[in-house]
Amino acid sequence: MPFPLLEVRDLRIDFDMYEGTFKVLDGFSLVVQKGEKVGIVGETGCGKSITMQAALGILPMPPGRISSGEIRFLGKDLLTANARDLKEIRSRISLIPQDPSASLNPVFKVGTQLMDVIKYSASSRGQTGNAKERRRLALNALKEVGLPDPERNMNSYPIQLSGGMQQRILIAMALVTEPELLIADEPSTALDVTIQDQILRLMKEIVDKRQLTIVIITHNLGVVRELTDRTYVMYAGQLAEVARTKHLFSQSKHPYTQGLIKSVPKLTGEGISSGIEGMIPDYSNPPNGCRFRPRCEYAMAICEEKPPDFVVEEEHKVACFLYRK
Ligand SMILES: Nc1ncnc2c1ncn2[C@@H]1O[C@H](COP(=O)(O)OP(=O)(O)O)[C@@H](O)[C@H]1O
Ligand code: SF4
Ligand SMILES: [Mg+2]
Repeated sequence: MPFPLLEVRDLRIDFDMYEGTFKVLDGFSLVVQKGEKVGIVGETGCGKSITMQAALGILPMPPGRISSGEIRFLGKDLLTANARDLKEIRSRISLIPQDPSASLNPVFKVGTQLMDVIKYSASSRGQTGNAKERRRLALNALKEVGLPDPERNMNSYPIQLSGGMQQRILIAMALVTEPELLIADEPSTALDVTIQDQILRLMKEIVDKRQLTIVIITHNLGVVRELTDRTYVMYAGQLAEVARTKHLFSQSKHPYTQGLIKSVPKLTGEGISSGIEGMIPDYSNPPNGCRFRPRCEYAMAICEEKPPDFVVEEEHKVACFLYRK
């Protein structure tokens, strides 16, 4: 069995703040095989973004601190790799960030920014290229993301473009380096709903066409349902459940996943069902054991211990004592 493309094992991330230590990620693990489309879903503040920031080496440290765990890319440990190896590995991973307007540099033209990305990525891989080739690649990338007039857009400043177009440019930037792993953090949530739809459709098209490996982070179950093969459900820095996406929607086991699925607005005549009562815990003093305990209607004494991942079926694991064998 070849190494997985990305493997996060028992990762713990704390934040050292003035008010004390915030224990956010509490032993989270994830495996992404080459060619897979993986989702990470959970409420805002669950630790989805910091997990991927750690994998990309962009977690702000301090205040962040990786207190234990491993992150491996094709078997290579990113937390102990030397700077040169790290740069090379990172050039093989791209991120589509959440907020297009904050992610593009306002003072440089779109074309310049795209060609810079191409140049940097090539040099990280020990390659050189020429300006003409970079321009050709940049134009192709803009065409691939469906921008109507790539030549003109090369010469535009980000502010001259709509939010949807800016997001397309960020997708072009992430793809132009031919990454082996694409990470999309809440793609399109900063945009209005119809544009969101177009962006998601575009991403699906490109991912399928190029057979990319992608990790999609989102608080929106609809997005994982549409775009992923397998989904990790995360609650307050812990794994709740992981399964094939289709299976998760029909056979969810964890009370948190069930609550999430139930709280998706349904237009079935029953009206919109309520969300899950309560909110994510204070990370400076989180509950022992299962962090969902204060919100869980099935909580038992044993839930003060941390539930291991119980295998309920092949590829389906649930971190909940209700499934203890
Ligand atoms: N730069 C930071 N400084 C301090 N705390 C942070 C920082 N980034 C994240 N956190 C803490 O980690 C929690 C999880 O953050 P994040 O991974 O961004 O959540 P999400 O699941 O919404 O992506 C936040 O609620 C916050 O407590
Ligand atoms: S482990 Fe206990 S508290 Fe946590 S979800 Fe399961 S039953 Fe609820
Ligand atoms: Mg986030």
